[in-house]
Amino acid sequence: MAVSTFRTETEQGVATIFIDVPGEPVNTLRDDFQSEFQAVLATLADDASVRAIVIASGKPEGFIAGADVQMLSRARSAAEAAELSRGGQQAMDKLEALARKKPIVAAVHGPALGGGYELTLACTYRICSDDKKTQLGLPEVQLGLLPGAGGTQRLPRLIGIAQALDIILAGKTVKAPKAKKLGMVDEVVPRSILLEVAKTRARELADGKLKISRKRLDLSGGLPKLLKGLTPEVLQTIALEDNPLGRKVLFQQAKKALLKQTKGNYPAPEKALEAVRIGAEQGLEAGLKAEATLFGELVVSDVSKRLVEIFFATTALKKDTGVDEPNIQGAKVEKIGMLGAGLMGAGIAYIAADNGIFVRLKDKDDAGLARGLTQIRGILDEGVKRKRITRRDRDEKLARVTGATDFSGLTHAEVVVEAVFEDLALKQKTVAEIEKSAPRAIFASNTSSIPIGKIAEGAAHPENVIGMHFFSPVNKMPLLEVIRAPKTSSQTVATVVALGKKMGKTVIVVNDGVGFYTSRILAPYLNEASFLLAEGGAIDEIDRALTGFGFPVGPLQLLDEVGIDVGTKVAHIMHAAFGDRLLAPSGIDKLIADGRLGRKAKKGFYSYGEEKGKSRKSVDETVYDLLPGGRTRTPVSAGEAAERCVLQMVNEAALCLGEKVLRSARDGDIGAVFGLGWPPFRGGPFRYADSLGAKTIVERLRRYEEKLGLRFKPAPLLVEMAASGATFFPVAMV
Ligand code: NAI
Repeated sequence: MAVSTFRTETEQGVATIFIDVPGEPVNTLRDDFQSEFQAVLATLADDASVRAIVIASGKPEGFIAGADVQMLSRARSAAEAAELSRGGQQAMDKLEALARKKPIVAAVHGPALGGGYELTLACTYRICSDDKKTQLGLPEVQLGLLPGAGGTQRLPRLIGIAQALDIILAGKTVKAPKAKKLGMVDEVVPRSILLEVAKTRARELADGKLKISRKRLDLSGGLPKLLKGLTPEVLQTIALEDNPLGRKVLFQQAKKALLKQTKGNYPAPEKALEAVRIGAEQGLEAGLKAEATLFGELVVSDVSKRLVEIFFATTALKKDTGVDEPNIQGAKVEKIGMLGAGLMGAGIAYIAADNGIFVRLKDKDDAGLARGLTQIRGILDEGVKRKRITRRDRDEKLARVTGATDFSGLTHAEVVVEAVFEDLALKQKTVAEIEKSAPRAIFASNTSSIPIGKIAEGAAHPENVIGMHFFSPVNKMPLLEVIRAPKTSSQTVATVVALGKKMGKTVIVVNDGVGFYTSRILAPYLNEASFLLAEGGAIDEIDRALTGFGFPVGPLQLLDEVGIDVGTKVAHIMHAAFGDRLLAPSGIDKLIADGRLGRKAKKGFYSYGEEKGKSRKSVDETVYDLLPGGRTRTPVSAGEAAERCVLQMVNEAALCLGEKVLRSARDGDIGAVFGLGWPPFRGGPFRYADSLGAKTIVERLRRYEEKLGLRFKPAPLLVEMAASGATFFPVAMV
């Protein structure tokens, strides 16, 4: 007999339903969930001894994480997906109808997301635990979808349109205190008494002792007295939402703000807005109908498919040990040594301490050490200011970092990370020093460009030497690129991958080589932007072409951020390693001679003067005096500019896969999206190549090769695939 998802206990007229999807670590709304749930509810509806109901989770750490994404991705057509939404809506309607007869209280501990939170919206009353793990929200738009089980209708009715749009359009999830403030839950209590309070409230509701008054007010009967005590802000919101003109303004504003953010690349929030609007203007039934139809359209959209694929890829990476041998597991790391307290070293020390790891931070002198500790403290203070952490959390995290200017205190470190200056001799010397002072430790270098094999050259134990390439700012960028050198052992790889995950990163493992993977595909992309500039293109036009494609910033602005000197240095290294294919256009070196190093020098492609109140960066026109063509620029075709830069990146990614720098196309896509800002709605360079087909990519590369030369020579793997019709990922069965 199949194990049931639901267990019911009745006590003094209150039935508690415990949800526990068998065989899964978290509850999701799978396709068999609804029918079983309905049967349980029908039994309770008919049971005269049951006067009220509590819904709770049977899992120790989590309410319901949302709909089963696999189930959604199996839908073959928009109509089929709309039916799934219809089914969910009807189930919630039934729940709500029953709640009118027998009050239902949702008792939430842990995540209640998407369909999980929508279920609580159909209940009479919501209580959650004050635990850090408790989160509520509707994150569907992050997967290119919208809340399809009544969420676009019930949330605005519960907390007001403006507040609900804030949650739904951004796919936000909030912790307990914020949820209470917004009205998303009625009560927050300690976890230990959650269930008891929920039962008490259920009984009080059944007895009529607890009456619910919601913040949203029905103004149809004129201004109620209550309004007099409200703040002008709340009054304004209500006035705006409750008269048709005010509502119209609200929706127009929301749409404008949304398009500014998404540039029309993400249809999900737009459609969610539409569903909320229809519900507000034409009533609940019309709203639900629109919600289901629009949900169906989104499920089968390309954008949602790409976002769901990224979600699956990151889920798979969480389980990936980084090595192919199934018997090798990462060793536990509780203490690290961190050499270099500069920008990167301090950032790495912070994420380690933030995630419970003890850190011995070493710099060459007191000044360096003090600077690093100040950076760590600054990030933590910011967290306190923004109420993300308490002062006590901050002090606990800070206490995990101790500093030194010598090699003391490293004996127990399982891993020593290095982020000293980018200098091969210095890095080799550091390996030797660590082999003496912490002989059993893994040595992980955060070098951005030196092959790990070279750093390991003089090592007594090269099997312990590896690359851990973090991205700046370390506390914000989600990717960690782990670099395996020819002599690195699988055990070292697995331990460092596990450490990276513990630090909260999405980790890909690549094989050693100049530029590894991310810097290698970035270099020809930036190089192509420099060619466009050298041909006479305007800086802002080139950047706009790529932000139009979906990158968060354009390539030349990125160069300003990274440092034009750093970019040029890397370009020279890449040229030396890969030959004329990566030759930079002449003339760019002049920028460095002029002291134009980018933002850090307040002098680059853009102006960095007093920028107060200035939202848009403007090009520093004087830079053109150093470039071919001078200040008269030739118009650039945005289509061609974007195509050329993107083809460079795609072609180099294919070379990396062909040369086995990458373990899989999946890792290549995740590296580009999480490390370089490749637009998620286009999946990644490999999914993008699949969407066009290798044949088209090769044709386009050849066309540019004829016109612009060697640097567009197609990667052998792409040529092979164009001939055989192969794809990087298996073709989805539709
Ligand atoms: P930084 O110049 O801010 O910091 C380097 C720190 O190392 C300084 O505090 C310096 O005093 C210290 N140091 C120098 N020699 C030392 C020694 N022998 N022992 C202990 N400390 C020593 O440099 P940043 O930007 O933090 O870069 C560090 C490393 O990370 C470099 O290898 C760089 O290529 C790499 N990297 C940098 C990225 C970036 O965006 N800045 C991104 C990824 C990697």
